[in-house]
Amino acid sequence: MVNLETEYLGLKLKNPIIVGSSGLTSTPVQIKRLAEAGAGAVVLKSIFEEEIAYEYEKNIATKETGHEFFEYYDYFDYKIKEQNLEKYSRLIHQAKQETNIPIIASANAVSPSEWISYATKFEEAGADALEINAFILPSDPSKTGAEIEAEYFEIINQVLQYVKIPVALKIGPYFSGLANSILKLSQTGIKGMVLFNRTYNPDIDLDSMKLVPAKIFSSDWEYILPLRWIALLSGRVNIDLSASTGIHTSDEVIKLILAGAKTTQIVSAIYKYGPMHIEKVINGVTDWMEEKNFKSLDEFRGLANNSSISDPAFLERIQFMKYFGDREDIL
Ligand SMILES: Cc1cc2nc3c(=O)[nH]c(=O)nc-3n(C[C@H](O)[C@H](O)[C@H](O)COP(=O)(O)O)c2cc1C
Repeated sequence: MVNLETEYLGLKLKNPIIVGSSGLTSTPVQIKRLAEAGAGAVVLKSIFEEEIAYEYEKNIATKETGHEFFEYYDYFDYKIKEQNLEKYSRLIHQAKQETNIPIIASANAVSPSEWISYATKFEEAGADALEINAFILPSDPSKTGAEIEAEYFEIINQVLQYVKIPVALKIGPYFSGLANSILKLSQTGIKGMVLFNRTYNPDIDLDSMKLVPAKIFSSDWEYILPLRWIALLSGRVNIDLSASTGIHTSDEVIKLILAGAKTTQIVSAIYKYGPMHIEKVINGVTDWMEEKNFKSLDEFRGLANNSSISDPAFLERIQFMKYFGDREDIL
């Protein structure tokens, strides 16, 4: 018998398939369906400070401004935030009641005080863990990599002071020193990291020549980005690594576990094929393990990581030096 159980952030999961933070995990009904389809855990849709601020500005813009404006402003700030947090806490609570899988809350805040109020509120509501969605795009040319990277440590320090539930940090790949940053971040007290968030991107429409949103769903070859970094780092950090981006079938799940991931997060493929796809992925992993005679995930986790392979330089190779060098016929 094959055992797919895995421990992630100190939580027991019946299998390593997590439905990642997205619209898929924004209502109790959907979360129940995902749990019934076999998900090992879910990460709830993030609560965004920016979105709350937007709602608040919209409300302010529709009101007349007078001498009581500032009092009103304060009141509204508090009120909208409270309502959103209450709604999110109810989602955590209902998801816990409707399922028996770990429920991981997710937040994206800008100001330190907001991180604290989100984190403590989610803990109170019964979340099993918190995923910090802290993608900082290094687009400000006046800021150095070190300055931007320091912001991640500030957020973690704030949150860890106030919550006892396990905390994971979800990041993007744009760091000036990615390996060093992941290593240092892994030593802050967080229990895991999610590599990588795949964000909203701009594209250009050739007819209108205007900016438009790029495709929001990943393609099935994009898993090679988390694969390289998880393989490079899983043997070097003492926290759990969860893979995200481009995981569409059981093949990618197996590859990412071979690279050393504790869990794998799926979003785009579930949007595309529906919740029952989870069962197909689980069956695919089980079949492969039976074929290879593996009884548990630990037996093959990390077999292809930096610490296990005979030629670690393979993971750091970036130039196509040997390939197509002599293929003039394809040009
Ligand atoms: C429609 C949509 C909404 C998303 N919302 C969030 C979110 O609220 N918070 C978050 O951390 N990631 C969010 N993501 C990113 C996903 O969690 C995931 O990291 C990304 O889609 C890559 O995984 P995939 O290749 O399986 O889609 C969202 C992705 C999609 C497609």
